[in-house]
Amino acid sequence: MKELENNIKKIKDSCLKELKKARSLESLEEIRVAYLGRSGALTEIMSTLKTLSLEQKRTLGPDLNELKKQLHDAYESRVSEFEKKNLSSDALFDVTAYKPHQMHGSLHIYTHIIEQLTEIFISMGYTIADGPEMETEYYNFTTLNIPDDHPARDSHDTFWLSQPDRLLRTHTSSVQAHSMEQATPPLAIFAPGRCYRNEATDASHDFMFTQGEGLFVDTNVSMSQLLATARTFLQHFFGKEDLKIRVRPGYFPFVEPGVEIDGSCPFCSDGCSVCKHTKWIELLGAGLVHPNVLRANGIDPEKYSGFAFGFGIERLAMIKYGINDIRLFHSAHIPFLQQFA
Ligand code: PHE
Repeated sequence: MKELENNIKKIKDSCLKELKKARSLESLEEIRVAYLGRSGALTEIMSTLKTLSLEQKRTLGPDLNELKKQLHDAYESRVSEFEKKNLSSDALFDVTAYKPHQMHGSLHIYTHIIEQLTEIFISMGYTIADGPEMETEYYNFTTLNIPDDHPARDSHDTFWLSQPDRLLRTHTSSVQAHSMEQATPPLAIFAPGRCYRNEATDASHDFMFTQGEGLFVDTNVSMSQLLATARTFLQHFFGKEDLKIRVRPGYFPFVEPGVEIDGSCPFCSDGCSVCKHTKWIELLGAGLVHPNVLRANGIDPEKYSGFAFGFGIERLAMIKYGINDIRLFHSAHIPFLQQFA
């Protein structure tokens, strides 16, 4: 009897001690099974009760029941301590509150603008064309009706490469011949791309810039189609349905007649700093494709005619977004770039 009582005390002490030491819900459960489970230490002792005398059962029985309850309560309270702790640490851990400092990547202003432009031209039935930035004299000049001795070559401050007959294209008009070689009319292409000119930089000139080139070749193409296309494009680009265009004579060797197209200022009706108080902004170079250019590319000028236009993509973006320095475009100036994120 004495031994039994000792055992009971040992079980009680070690169970309480283990419960106190437990560091996880799993180990609490193991302790519960070891002491209070179906073949746990306390359960086994209780099953020996039936071998005792009635007198012994009367004293030990209630004690054992009391102990079982006590151990169970101790177990429960440890479990709820753990649960509370977990709950409260979850409550303190607000996943939305943790915001490490991160630099977000975003599309570059170039990408935004070129997407806007291509979307407009695709909606007008154009396909997007591409050409190499490293060009030959032939594609950049000769096929565009700018022969060797033509003074227009001097006005394009060209970056000549060390390889003979290789240069960095000075305009996207070089894509015209590539496109005409590859397709038969009707042909409608829009070619955005990077160009290079070996000139001093300032707020509106850069040695590297982007142009957009449009070319349309079909039978009976007229100046009125060019003007309607230019106006529709500019109205969409500036989001201004009532934008008007005005045409002045212009000279580009690859078009005849050649024109400069101005747009009415998208920001004012009576003069502002953007249009330098003239109400008009010079936007496109354009004209009807010169017969020599068609002929050089295997297209019969008696049968087909075409129009072409070109513009500085940065220039249009600068006007649209009020950007005052073209050099910002490839400056990696984060505050500038973030404005277009
Ligand atoms: N390539 C001309 C330039 O760089 C622009 C242009 C394109 C003019 C097509 C007329 C027709 O200025």
